[in-house]
Amino acid sequence: MLVLILILLILVILLFLLSMLWPPDSPWSPWWRTTPTLARLECKLAKIKKGDIIYDLGSGEGTALIIAAKEFGATGVGIEIDPFRAWYAKLAVWLAGVADKVIIRRENFFTVDISKATVVFLYLTPRALVGLREKFFKELRPGTRVVTFVYQMDLPLYAKDDKAEMYVYEIPKRK
Ligand SMILES: C[S@@+](CC[C@H](N)C(=O)[O-])C[C@H]1O[C@@H](n2cnc3c(N)ncnc32)[C@H](O)[C@@H]1O
Repeated sequence: MLVLILILLILVILLFLLSMLWPPDSPWSPWWRTTPTLARLECKLAKIKKGDIIYDLGSGEGTALIIAAKEFGATGVGIEIDPFRAWYAKLAVWLAGVADKVIIRRENFFTVDISKATVVFLYLTPRALVGLREKFFKELRPGTRVVTFVYQMDLPLYAKDDKAEMYVYEIPKRK
């Protein structure tokens, strides 16, 4: 029994180390995350308020949505492909007491309808951000704010914090 537990433990550690090699837009990406302090800054920069519906694409542990719901009065939908992170986020949402405001869905964000969003949170690689641009123009209403962390998008800039590497964009009017 002890040997089995040891083997399992070694496997988990190996998987975690291996995850460092995967890009952050894959389900086996490193556990890169937005801290509560950064999540607060993200909400302030995007002017999150009561009534906002935030879609966090690749929501990880759900930290940003929990802060947005608890401290800024927003509601949110987190889309997370990694079953472990999705499960963790569901538990964190429940423990934070915001289960009536935040839903976590274990899905691929490329296949999810995001048209209800008033704000979109993203912490993804440039490759994933380029892939999402067309979807945003198809599904998001003009005026929807899109926030990226570290990597930038080819969209009209609304606000930014260079030091924190945080960028807020606004979906433009259709021509
Ligand atoms: C760099 S992490 C950011 C996590 C979280 N947003 C944060 O800031 O703490 C990127 C997340 O996107 C998820 N992800 C990548 N591709 C995805 C996809 N196609 N659909 C849903 N989630 C995806 C990964 O599993 C990972 O949890």
